[in-house]
Amino acid sequence: MTTVKLSTVLSAMSYALDLTEGQPQGHASRSCLIGMRIAEELQLTADERSDLFYALLMKDAGCSSNAARVSQLFGGDDQDAKRGLWERDWRKWGEKIRYALEYTEPGGSLIERARRFVTLAIAGPSSQRELFEIRCDRGANIARALGASEPTAVAIRCMDEHWDGGGYPEGLRKEQIPLYARIVGLAQVAEIYWGMGGPQAAIGVARDRRSRWFDPELVKVMLSVGASDRLWSDLDSPSLPDAIASAEPIERAIPADETRLDKIAHAFALVVDAKSNFTYHHSDRVAAICDALAAELGLPDEQRVRLRRAALLHDIGKLSVPNRILDKPGKLDADEWTVVKQHPYFTYEILARVPVFSDFAYDASCHHERLDGRGYYRGVSGDRLSTQARIMATADVFDALSAARPYRGPMPLDQVLKVIGEGRGTAHCPVTVDALFAIASRDSRRLIAS
Ligand SMILES: [Fe+2]
Ligand SMILES: [Fe+2]
Repeated sequence: MTTVKLSTVLSAMSYALDLTEGQPQGHASRSCLIGMRIAEELQLTADERSDLFYALLMKDAGCSSNAARVSQLFGGDDQDAKRGLWERDWRKWGEKIRYALEYTEPGGSLIERARRFVTLAIAGPSSQRELFEIRCDRGANIARALGASEPTAVAIRCMDEHWDGGGYPEGLRKEQIPLYARIVGLAQVAEIYWGMGGPQAAIGVARDRRSRWFDPELVKVMLSVGASDRLWSDLDSPSLPDAIASAEPIERAIPADETRLDKIAHAFALVVDAKSNFTYHHSDRVAAICDALAAELGLPDEQRVRLRRAALLHDIGKLSVPNRILDKPGKLDADEWTVVKQHPYFTYEILARVPVFSDFAYDASCHHERLDGRGYYRGVSGDRLSTQARIMATADVFDALSAARPYRGPMPLDQVLKVIGEGRGTAHCPVTVDALFAIASRDSRRLIAS
């Protein structure tokens, strides 16, 4: 029976969202603390602070869903383009043009860059709106899937609106923007500037954008909170997780029970799969194939639950891979392969810091290992690969071959089984392969439809 709080799990998982958004690790957590200190100063009620708390922690849940579009528009790494956007006042024309010049088709020829720049200029505000809308809508829906309250979901949807009506997606003005969304909007920008230049930069950006981006009354509160060292020293402290935990209204703390852990695993699988059209529902399908294999092999229920969650989260490290590489329609070069091969490492790094998921972090990070040690990223073999890791490795290949990729169409079932069968005993565990073939011969729909 677990006694871990939902907020502890989400706070740890938010590091995966920081990766996708191109922000330094801990961005969402630190934004949460800034926002909650503003809420304390405003003397919000426990219910209000609880709603705000989850909006701050989950604010970037939709960040992966516009990554492919950002990459397509700019022709470079989506994380770089996103980080660059947050680091400047993109409402000002000079800044906007400098940003576009810096991030469109980086490394491309003058003609390629000019062509991309013109395309971007033509797309203009409608593409900006689209990017924010995708991110905000998706984020709100994922928060709902996690069981968040409606005010929390609405705050996520409206967090990029600006006080003067110049934000997105709706161009809401002043009090039309829900209070929690106004706090999230201010906290996230203050955190980014704190990371760039310390407390002075955070206070500076709040002042500079007062009444344009930010509610002037909230900026006053922010300046009051920022006048003492308490906030800034907590942001920089190794005990940041404790400070965040104590910012949650204790009477509203939600335990991360088994049902909620399943919801979290499913929600983050959605985040991962939304990153690229080519991986749409991949995590879900791998989890379903793993479960079918586990049933075939007679694994006990407790292990099946563990395996299902591990399978849902096995590719969470892919949030670190730019879409320029994930969606590339041709062969990857050596450097791009190196980046791709790091994603199981990031899966391990992310899951190992989450108390309730750390026990399967190693198994999940072994999903590209082979029985003969020629897999990646560790190159481990034999006994170092548990039954669950072996099941995930085979299920992952099965789904990857069955689905379309940027460089090829989907492979028919008989060919998929042929490829996997050829790797029996070298790439794949013979017991797992036999179980896969047994399911395929009895009822292949369990593998294909899943
Ligand atoms: Fe993978
Ligand atoms: Fe995968």
